[in-house]
Amino acid sequence: MPRLLRFLLLLLCGLALITAVGYVALTRTTHRWFETDLRARSLFVVTATKQLLARNWEIGREGLVDALEDITRDERVMGAAACSLDGQRLAVTAAYPLDFGCRWVLARLSQEGEGTDPWTTTEELPGGRVHLSAITVTTEGKPLGRVLLVHDLSYLERREATTRNLLLVAFFVLSLGAATITMIAERLAFRVWTSELRRALSGEVTRDFKPLVGDVRALVERLASERDREARGGNWNPERLRSTLTTHLEGERVIILANREPYIHEKTPDGVKVLHPASGLVTALEPVMRACSGVWVAHGSGSADKQTSDARGHVKVPPGEESYSLRRVWLSDAEENGYYYGFSNEGLWPLCHVAHARPVFRAEDWEHYVRVNRKFADAVCEEVDTEDPIILVQDYHFALAPRMIRERLPRATILTFWHIPWPSAERIGICPWREEIISGLLGSSIVGFHTQQHCNNFIDAVDTFMESRIDREANAIVQGARRSLVRPYPISIEWPVHWLESLPSVGECRVSVRKELGLPADALLGVGIDRLDYTKGIEERLQAVDELLTRHPEFRGRFTFAQLAAPSRTKIARYRELNDRVEALADEINARWGKDDYRPIILLRSHHEPPTVFRYYRAAELCYVSSLHDGMNLVAKEFVAARDDELGVLVLSQFTGAARDLTEALIVNPYDLGQAGDALAAALRMPEDEQRERMCSMRRMVSEFNVYRWAGRMLVDAAELRRRERVSGRLSAPTVLTRAMG
Ligand code: F6P
Repeated sequence: MPRLLRFLLLLLCGLALITAVGYVALTRTTHRWFETDLRARSLFVVTATKQLLARNWEIGREGLVDALEDITRDERVMGAAACSLDGQRLAVTAAYPLDFGCRWVLARLSQEGEGTDPWTTTEELPGGRVHLSAITVTTEGKPLGRVLLVHDLSYLERREATTRNLLLVAFFVLSLGAATITMIAERLAFRVWTSELRRALSGEVTRDFKPLVGDVRALVERLASERDREARGGNWNPERLRSTLTTHLEGERVIILANREPYIHEKTPDGVKVLHPASGLVTALEPVMRACSGVWVAHGSGSADKQTSDARGHVKVPPGEESYSLRRVWLSDAEENGYYYGFSNEGLWPLCHVAHARPVFRAEDWEHYVRVNRKFADAVCEEVDTEDPIILVQDYHFALAPRMIRERLPRATILTFWHIPWPSAERIGICPWREEIISGLLGSSIVGFHTQQHCNNFIDAVDTFMESRIDREANAIVQGARRSLVRPYPISIEWPVHWLESLPSVGECRVSVRKELGLPADALLGVGIDRLDYTKGIEERLQAVDELLTRHPEFRGRFTFAQLAAPSRTKIARYRELNDRVEALADEINARWGKDDYRPIILLRSHHEPPTVFRYYRAAELCYVSSLHDGMNLVAKEFVAARDDELGVLVLSQFTGAARDLTEALIVNPYDLGQAGDALAAALRMPEDEQRERMCSMRRMVSEFNVYRWAGRMLVDAAELRRRERVSGRLSAPTVLTRAMG
């Protein structure tokens, strides 16, 4: 129903209610008035004719009738009667209703009216209501008898009907007036509003519309450029990303700075092995690097990394299909402890995640963090070959690097992406080095987050702690001549996932995984894939399985949950304790529900390479992602990508960035164990039709909003920024530098 109609309906209901209440109140009051009026009137008539009546009382019936006829001359008086004190009728006028005889009145008087003079009552006759009064006639203080007067009340009903009609007319006129005025006011306000908005959109920004205009313009620009891009090439893919780089950025390579390397060389008893780390960052960025080429600068953390790199730490990757360079930076144990385990993962990680872990800030960790950021910034500068390179700085390990790079390369385009949530300004405020962190990030040309909420939080933090100007219309922070844009870029995964090319069919994966886990062929299987991290809600996940078995007995003995948990950051006590707690919890649940060979929880605590992970995704009935707080969570998107059979159900925490994109998942609050347990049951019972409908929709979303689009959008925005800066004269055409520059 249109808004205006709803409003009018409400208005009419309100007026009708007021009229009804008014009508009842008015009728009651007038009624009371009329009754008082009649009593007074009857008394007045009898008192006025008192002498006449007294005289005629002596004379007898004839004289009394005349006197009574005189009294009843008023058209509202129906009739009158004279009664002796003992109830004898002495005289009566012709129209007096005989229902109210002298004895009848005497009986009523003795029940209720003794002592009241005049005594009055309202009675119902077949011809309508009447008002009866009995007044004592006295002479020299001695009572002679009573006069009964009957008033016709039909005129009262007529008056009530007239009042009702008047009120109805008033209601009708008022309603009509109010509705007309409302409609005119609404039209006028709408006209003023639209003309103001039009003026605002055409550049004449009024104060009221300023924030709205900024949003509308940004939206229009984004939609236009998206449409333009779609028109030029459909979904994003590696070719389109490459051509974006060459057309928009004149073929420049990109340099990624990320702590985690995409390929780790490890010594094993069988020789050197290449491992793919369990990292959302690597999952997302490695395909981008393969598409674009360039250099990935990272910490060389593998035991065989040094022996597989050249003297300057370079190695060509991916192994066997070399297309870009990995530049490894070496860190001492002290540096790694202070910068990575200490400040990054005991300080910033719990600071940014609402998972109820207290951040630890140590001055010596901070010193390492500053030194290591400088070391990596230097390594990046060594890799550049122009004055205005494109550098993608990744994550919370490198909050200071953007400014450090900017100091050496003022013309660089630095795109920093923060892979974890950015919390409220209040929370950021507890970091002793909050200004340094924010200032470091503002060395970037663009600071990217997963969601608009994180962007807003970042802008609030800048507002609270920094000297700068915030351009809210452009979502930019201005410090002197430099501006940093703050933008949401929800990260994703490659599409199609290259690991799937060599994997067996879903049917084969179902059989092989069940065999591997020692499960019957028809067992129902759920999977969880994570680093063993307290933000992932692994304990809550296992408790939800416990809840499922408690509340839905039909799944006991039939449902198994396989948790693949990659050990992570084990030098930190909190991670080791989590490991122990998860193990104890799995044992406890298995003891409660296990029987013969059946164990509801299978905990696989080790690193699993992507082909194994994808086989598990394909084999499962459901995947449960229960993060307590997560910037995006790419496991959810990987599960969807793995299910080319279009079946399987994703149960997803509402506290992940992914929950905004994958709305067809069963979205749960992981802290609400009952709800999560029921969601697992619903997933296991879901008919295939519904599974397919949900999965197809999520697959469309992930395939369209893939990681090439994520990177492409950042690069296009970067290109646009460079173009503007060149036009405004701050940059010259790209200049090729010699390597000596670093
Ligand atoms: O979520 C932040 C992040 O850097 C991810 O990108 C990645 O999945 C994870 O942390 C990896 O952590 P680490 O590199 O410490 O193993």
